[in-house]
Amino acid sequence: MYVPSTVVTNDAFVKMGLDTTDEWITSRTGIEERRLVGRDEPTSELAVKAARRALQVADVHASDIDLIIVATCTPDQVMPSTASLVQDKLGAKRAGAFDLNAACAGFAYALNMGAAQIESRRAKRVMVIGADELSIYLDWKDRGTCILFGDGAGAVLLQSADTPGILTSTVGSDGSGAGLLNIRGGGSKYRVNGNGAGPNGTAKHRAPAGDQYLRMNGQQIFRWATQMMTEAAEQVMRESGLKPDQIDLFIPHQANLRIIEATARKLGLPPEKVFSNVSNYGNTSAASIPIALCEAIDAGQIEVGDNIVLTSFGAGLTWSALAVHWTQEIPTGGKSPWTPFRQQLDSRMAAVQSALKRQERRVRSTIDERLGREP
Ligand code: ACO
Repeated sequence: MYVPSTVVTNDAFVKMGLDTTDEWITSRTGIEERRLVGRDEPTSELAVKAARRALQVADVHASDIDLIIVATCTPDQVMPSTASLVQDKLGAKRAGAFDLNAACAGFAYALNMGAAQIESRRAKRVMVIGADELSIYLDWKDRGTCILFGDGAGAVLLQSADTPGILTSTVGSDGSGAGLLNIRGGGSKYRVNGNGAGPNGTAKHRAPAGDQYLRMNGQQIFRWATQMMTEAAEQVMRESGLKPDQIDLFIPHQANLRIIEATARKLGLPPEKVFSNVSNYGNTSAASIPIALCEAIDAGQIEVGDNIVLTSFGAGLTWSALAVHWTQEIPTGGKSPWTPFRQQLDSRMAAVQSALKRQERRVRSTIDERLGREP
């Protein structure tokens, strides 16, 4: 996992002049602080840092990755995908790469897709990353949203194995709730570009003021999220034959402590089996589950043989849940003492190779132009 170094406490909002209090935010959401990115930290940077750590822990070379999926709703650019930028920065020469947008449910969706690639033998190793910077889209005057979110990234390396780790999973969507949580500006409907009329008479559309911000109906999302996370978790528990007393750890999407506690109560899970770090990071969107997973491992809350249920919800509306049987020895920071050095070398090499390729492309096209060669 990787989170930016800037810590923003609830009091910072009060100091900023927002009509709120630390007491309100803590009691209504469980959030005490969150991390926010600086100017030159695009989503791909967070994703790469988390992915490098995952490779280090797994002691795997970037060139051994077959596929990179970046779950994000805050990509660096509309195109190319953030996953392609990550692939280049990691030096994952053999990997295919694409982004997946299921908002906060994105990481659980991506785990499902990555596991399916391995189960169908199309890939042996899939890097699944959840990375988001929703702070970029927050309206700092809207006290109902700006206090909720933080930035971060988490990564998991999936590998083929004899014993299945992901027992079962589900994904779902209900687009009738699209208006409950959205960022409208910047897409093909609410355009931000001012290109003028095209040959077909397409008039320029500018997004109405404010459409660049995240907007949300908090109360409706709250009610729906508790119900949907419960139903999705119940479904994967039923399908994998796990009873509540066989669940060792429940890791729900970290959006609001009250949603987490209500969901756990409905599932019949005691508080000690429920992981939460929402107090430290707020809602980091697609990064929330992998960050929680990493911290649960670091806290010694996951052991080989444990059954874990992950469940999440997000804009769309979307939801996903997975039942996981933890089969991997708990990583201790890399098997070989050379791993960190090799990794540093790998990332330098990746940067050099990428620069050489760009240079080669430039030289080739100049030569072709001079010689009048067709491409
Ligand atoms: N400080 C002080 N008062 C506030 C604040 C704040 N930061 N925010 C809202 N209030 C006020 C409201 O204006 C309202 O005042 P009023 O009664 O005078 O009108 C009052 O508090 C109660 O507002 P509610 O919306 O009923 O408060 P609620 O208890 O529902 O908490 C919250 C609001 C925290 C947003 C909650 O509804 C929530 O967490 N919803 C789920 C949101 C969520 O998880 N979204 C992420 C989805 S995942 C993704 O894909 C991005």
